[in-house]
This record gives sequence, C-alpha cells and structure tokens, in this order.
Amino acid sequence: MALRNINLDIPSNGIYCIMGLSGSGKSTLLRHINRLIDPDTGTVQIQDVDVTALSIPDLQKFRQKRIAMVFQHFGLLPHFTVQQNAEFALRVRGVPKRERAEQARYWLNEMELSGYEAHYYDELSGGMRQRVGLARALAAGTDILLMDEPFSALDPLIRRKLQTLLLNLQDRLNKTIVFITHDVEEARTLGGTVALLNQGSLIQQGSLEQMTANPADDYVASFLTSSAEAS
Ligand SMILES: Nc1ncnc2c1ncn2[C@@H]1O[C@H](COP(=O)(O)OP(=O)(O)OP(=O)(O)O)[C@@H](O)[C@H]1O
Ligand SMILES: [Mg+2]
Repeated sequence: MALRNINLDIPSNGIYCIMGLSGSGKSTLLRHINRLIDPDTGTVQIQDVDVTALSIPDLQKFRQKRIAMVFQHFGLLPHFTVQQNAEFALRVRGVPKRERAEQARYWLNEMELSGYEAHYYDELSGGMRQRVGLARALAAGTDILLMDEPFSALDPLIRRKLQTLLLNLQDRLNKTIVFITHDVEEARTLGGTVALLNQGSLIQQGSLEQMTANPADDYVASFLTSSAEAS
C-alpha cells in the first residue's frame, strides 16, 4: 500500500503545499484527489461530493468541471500548437470552437504568450512550456488546481517569476490549489501551509512556522533544515 493514515482537510480558496522526500507518496496522494488512483479504503470528499462514490461517467464530468492539473514535465502534446494545447481541456468538455479559442487566447495572453499561439512544444523554453501548461489549466475554468512540482524543472530565476505569477493570479482567482514541492522556500513563498509526508504517511500539517518551532519528529526537523540549506 502506497499511502496509509492520511487524514487531511484541505481548506478551499488557498494554496496548500504537500511536501516530503522523493517516494514519500506526494504524487500518489495528489492522484487520489481526482481519483486517477482509487483508494483501497477511505474516502475523498470535495465539498459536498464524495469523489470515491462517483460512477465513472460522473467522475469524468466532475473532473472536467472542477479539477485541472499542472505537471512537472508540462504534459503538453508535442504535435499540438500552443493554442491547441491551451484549448485542450475545453475541447474535451465539448465547448464550441469559437468560445474555447477565445478562452485559450485570453489565458495565453495572461501568461504573456500572445504571438506564440502557432508555435510547437519544441520551439519553447521550459518557462514558456509551463506557462502553456498554466494557461491550459486556467482556461479549463475549474475551481481546483492540482500542481505536481510544476516549477521543479525550471531554473531558479524562471521559477521565482512563475511563483510570483501564480501568487498574483491567486489574488484574483482565489482557487483551491494543491501544490507539491520539495522546496521549503517555495512552500514559504506560496503561503507556508503544508502537509509533510514520509513513507506514505502524513507526519505533520500546519504552517511552516509552527512546524519549524515544533517538529513532530526528527524527520520533520531534518527535512526542514536540510531543504532550507539546499536552497
Ligand atoms: N498506483 C500505485 N500503487 C501502488 N504504489 C504506488 C503507486 N504509484 C506509486 N506507488 C509507490 O508509492 C510510492 C510513492 O510514490 P510517489 O510517486 O507518490 O512519490 P513522490 O513523493 O511523488 O516522489 P517524487 O518526489 O520522486 O515525485 C513509491 O514507492 C511508488 O513506487
Ligand atoms: Mg512525485
């Protein structure tokens, strides 16, 4: 079993970070939220919806309407243009061509990618690729964003820029964002509300300040200090 004893209450309309060493179960946990993985036991509840009880067609509709994802390695389709990638979620949902094109263009512009609509993956830098990934997620218009180490593959300067971009957007959009990161500084920048996993278990949750002052165990203490030293 990859995860156990996960009892987590993620507040709406904020950024919630999931942290832990490689292999601790962060991505697995994230994939339970939209049921890309079915839990053996337990439930996943999103507001008044028991996600674990949905039929497959209802789950698909629920995902399309409520949840968008952003991936570490961008997850863009290489044979699609920037515009087509940004429209992707809306196309899957059956949004008419004109409306989805308009939505995608709006979010590409917000991501400072106007003029790149006809470009392909190969022609983009890492930072641009992830801005397309963000545009695609935002164009979907969901209230929940699941982000699995979205900025980890980027160099530090670009990473900071995208953190700022995300924070500015969040001021306006007030989404529920679950954000996986290895980096304590990144979690702090994003508001410092975190859950820390170790070997598939939830070890501690709360603010980074509380955790630093009162680490639940040696793992937490060393995770916080070694990550802080590394960054
Ligand atoms: N569907 C699955 N069923 C059972 N075990 C899995 C499944 N997916 C991953 N695992 C295992 O669960 C553990 C946690 O993997 P996971 O990818 O969630 O870690 P992670 O914290 O995201 O690591 P990283 O920081 O490297 O991305 C690993 O030991 C992995 O082999
Ligand atoms: Mg992972």
